[in-house]
Amino acid sequence: MPFLFACDPAMPQFDLIATATFGLENVVARELKDLGYSNCRVSDGRVLFSGDEHDIARCNLWLRSADRLLIRLGEFPAGDFGALFDKTIDLPWNELLPVDAEFPVSGRSVRSRLKSVPSVQGCVKKAIVENLKRRYNRFRFDESGTQYPIEVSLLKDVATLTIDTSGPGLHKRGYRQLTGRAPLRETMAAGLVQLSYWNRERLLIDPFCGSGTIPIEAALLGRNIAPGLGRSFLCEDWHWMDRSVFRDARTAARDARLPKLSETILAYDHDPAAIRLSERSATDAGVAVDIRFRRQEVSDLKSKREYGCIVTNPPYGERLGDTEEVEAVYRELGRIFTPLNTWSIYVLTSNRWFEKHYGRRAPRRRKLYNGRLECQYYQYPGPRPPDPQSSE
Ligand SMILES: C[S@@+](CC[C@H](N)C(=O)[O-])C[C@H]1O[C@@H](n2cnc3c(N)ncnc32)[C@H](O)[C@@H]1O
Repeated sequence: MPFLFACDPAMPQFDLIATATFGLENVVARELKDLGYSNCRVSDGRVLFSGDEHDIARCNLWLRSADRLLIRLGEFPAGDFGALFDKTIDLPWNELLPVDAEFPVSGRSVRSRLKSVPSVQGCVKKAIVENLKRRYNRFRFDESGTQYPIEVSLLKDVATLTIDTSGPGLHKRGYRQLTGRAPLRETMAAGLVQLSYWNRERLLIDPFCGSGTIPIEAALLGRNIAPGLGRSFLCEDWHWMDRSVFRDARTAARDARLPKLSETILAYDHDPAAIRLSERSATDAGVAVDIRFRRQEVSDLKSKREYGCIVTNPPYGERLGDTEEVEAVYRELGRIFTPLNTWSIYVLTSNRWFEKHYGRRAPRRRKLYNGRLECQYYQYPGPRPPDPQSSE
């Protein structure tokens, strides 16, 4: 166990960064707050907080909308290669990296004087090697062991040096082997659900479920199932990460699961292959009992229920020739959703004319990126359901 930034040597604390796609940073900060981390600092694409190795395990297992969890080793002004090298060499690499560590360095540079990313990466790599030479008394490192992926990120001449603890991105939950057309990232789907008024007491419908990402992420949330329970994380193999840390975090996560949802989630799509795929993924995610999938045209959607929620990601019409068809679908949505006047409705699309075809301006909207595609999340929050206590 490294004694990094330790006030109490028994409990070394790290600066941690949960990275997030643009627009979801505050959702990730709220998740962290709900997990008990109160001192979070939010900036573009990341949320900074602190924690020990138990927190690294917990956050990897539990964060729903974050992309990765990084350890921040240092952040400092680096307007030239001299400053970058000198500051990097002084960071406590030798406390985290064993002698056989494989430590690939990736990099990026935004609005900074050091523009050549390969040169920046090379400089950081050289500085880390020098640091390790001091500790291990060697000239060469064969990097034959476990990976410790390092990133140097330059923004306005400030360098941030991090080590990735997650490995594959946190959207890789492990339940989705195959996907249909244009699937949403699991982290984005979890974000959409958390930005909505839905909770486990309310009915949720996704009429364009595709590979089922929104309903599955909602079911995981509603049953308090940690999204990372079905996968492993890179840092589990690190030499200073005690085996018991992840084992205990997984046991606690299994114990925290709630029983089956009382309100079954409804998920529809007109494509039978999408429905088959979704059913399989829901089974693999352990939430098949919570979702009813059915092949259905959106024009057949109706409900007598009140105060339900619709969270959906309809087709966008990005491909040439699809636009008219998609706009007809949006007009249809306007017609079908009109009687659902107590419902809360949320639609993610890149189509800039959505509101015009749907027929109502959204009281709230949020810019989000689905991959590289700029989208808007159109939000039509409905009235609050009556409090069941008040009628007693
Ligand atoms: C953008 S994809 C949804 C992706 C989904 N959120 C996921 O993560 O996989 C849109 C889906 O809408 C379905 N769809 C298109 N037109 C439809 C219609 N008229 N009725 C029902 N489903 C439709 C398509 O089959 C496709 O699966």
